[in-house]
Amino acid sequence: MELGVYLHLPLCARRCGYCDFATVVGEDFPFERYAEKLVLEATHRADAYRRWPLSSIYFGGGSPSLWQPGLLGRLVRQLSSLFECGETVEVTAELNPQDASDGLLDGYLAAGINRLSIGVQSLDDEVLRRLTREHDAATSHAAYLAARRAGFDNISCDMIFGIAGQTVEHHLDQTRRLLDWQPDHLSLYQLTLAKNSALWRQGERPVDDDASAAMLEAGRDVLQAAGFAQYEVSNYARGGRVAVHNSCVWRGYPYLGLGASAHSLSVVRDRHVRVRNPPFSRYLSGPIEDAADPNLVAVDGALVEQLDAAHSEKELLLLGLRTRRGVDRAFYRQRFGVDPAERYRAALASFVRAGMLEVDARAIRPTARGIWLADELTVRLFGYGKGTCDDGQAG
Ligand SMILES: C[S@@+](CC[C@H](N)C(=O)[O-])C[C@H]1O[C@@H](n2cnc3c(N)ncnc32)[C@H](O)[C@@H]1O
Ligand code: SF4
Repeated sequence: MELGVYLHLPLCARRCGYCDFATVVGEDFPFERYAEKLVLEATHRADAYRRWPLSSIYFGGGSPSLWQPGLLGRLVRQLSSLFECGETVEVTAELNPQDASDGLLDGYLAAGINRLSIGVQSLDDEVLRRLTREHDAATSHAAYLAARRAGFDNISCDMIFGIAGQTVEHHLDQTRRLLDWQPDHLSLYQLTLAKNSALWRQGERPVDDDASAAMLEAGRDVLQAAGFAQYEVSNYARGGRVAVHNSCVWRGYPYLGLGASAHSLSVVRDRHVRVRNPPFSRYLSGPIEDAADPNLVAVDGALVEQLDAAHSEKELLLLGLRTRRGVDRAFYRQRFGVDPAERYRAALASFVRAGMLEVDARAIRPTARGIWLADELTVRLFGYGKGTCDDGQAG
């Protein structure tokens, strides 16, 4: 196994109308204090994660591109000294297109950041306005070109599809235009609107499930024809440039999430635990050990929700079935003491007959059709496993 470290940098110039991420808006963000807290937290919790080599660092947000690159470089160096680094460490930063000055990009490279994830979202200025983005399509393209010029050779672009009124043709046109840039990686996200988002409250709605499914499949075909492999429901890579960080999370590997509202997955005294950090103001001002919720206990200096085995099992199935690698049978057996192909044998056989899943000696993996139904397949497999388990017939 390998270790990924995620750093949550919760600051945005303003909140986009669709966004439900944990972020804060304001002029007087305490960069230094927050960075110090991140280092304190990392140092405090490092012991529980040191047994795995560090393979990725991910600066997510929020808008990491509002941070001085020098400060991010300091964090990269401090993390690299706390953990044993693998042969290569993928260091990703999310980049808002309007922030991509040459100074920032050069600073990122000097900081050790070797992968960018650019929030392009759409190449249609009208859609960008409806999404209340701060940039237009030309700004995103200029950011992408500047990043290439600066020397980034691993660039991912995020796109959101499925805003009301969007057609499959429009989505394909957007996808083809983005492909012309020749990015290394693409994340295509279906628009979701939380009920408390500004756009939802204004009456904006995503397209319905059928329209969305049609866009997903048509988009996948165009990307595959252009040499991009779909390796997760929303993620495509060419030339093997899969996201190391996310891939490790989807495989069920441990990860250390630092910062406000970040979460981690760890193994503490042979139990898998999910660690949830408090929101911004409490994270910044409280001691790391502060466990305000009596249902949570403090472990590694952070709040811990004990995951019961059933919950962990369902999570591993769900994450695995959303990826083309699938669920690794040996890894699953090692973690839960049972081969999933045995545990879910009858249900798996029916999904294999229906052309949704494949099972071989290494993994249970979704077919090209089955990957769209990963959530439903998980619920049905898990329900089956529970039923047979309760009946005392399996597990
Ligand atoms: C942490 S977010 C934001 C990164 C960066 N601040 C930006 O806006 O460009 C990472 C990605 O999640 C996606 N995303 C955020 N909110 C979404 C939503 N409500 N529906 C679908 N995708 C969303 C966007 O594509 C975004 O680039
Ligand atoms: S989408 Fe990105 S820039 Fe917009 S509010 Fe969310 S995190 Fe901030």
